Amino acid sequence: MDSKAKIAVFISGGGTNLQSLIDASKEGRLSAEIVLVVSSKANAYGLERAKNAGIDTFVFKMKNYPGREEAEKDLLEMLQEYGVEYIALAGYLKLIPASLIKKYRHRIANIHPALLPKYGGKGMYGHHVHEAVIAAGDKESGATVHIVDEIYDHGKILIQEKVPVMPDDDADKLAARVLKIEHKIYPTALENLIRGEEK
Ligand code: GRF
Repeated sequence: MDSKAKIAVFISGGGTNLQSLIDASKEGRLSAEIVLVVSSKANAYGLERAKNAGIDTFVFKMKNYPGREEAEKDLLEMLQEYGVEYIALAGYLKLIPASLIKKYRHRIANIHPALLPKYGGKGMYGHHVHEAVIAAGDKESGATVHIVDEIYDHGKILIQEKVPVMPDDDADKLAARVLKIEHKIYPTALENLIRGEEK
């Protein structure tokens, strides 16, 4: 019997975190199978990464449905069809429907490019985060993997790792340093979650 947990990864962009999860799964560092990649954008490069790895993809856009209810129902049905047990948000820029959070309570994780609870919440994504860290003169930043609940960037922290902020950093340089850490901690955090150590 295949005892590997089934994961869906949600993306909106380049998908380097998706790639790190694909690699970790292949190399056995993550004892889970990525069965589906959901993207909020049809042209996200992460969809190519999924296809290259032989993973099915689904572009999910609210506007393609008559209403919110129909959209959420379709997404939920899709996840159930694939037997998805855990969801990993990896650069997904849309709000997760409350019905999904309820259904997958404590089984949705997100990665955030800062040391939460600092620099979290609405509007704090991508370069906005790194710009805010630099503007505040912080000496360190980092990445956080946390459980997703109904409040933005709020759920239980699973793993957090720090990086230094250098005097000559701009948002790009800091983002690259943080991203490296993200690729390291996300597979580990998911593995711990799946193994039940963080429930
Ligand atoms: C990462 O910085 C992640 O922390 C944030 O969005 C970015 C996604 O990058 N939530 P990628 O698409 O995984 O390369």
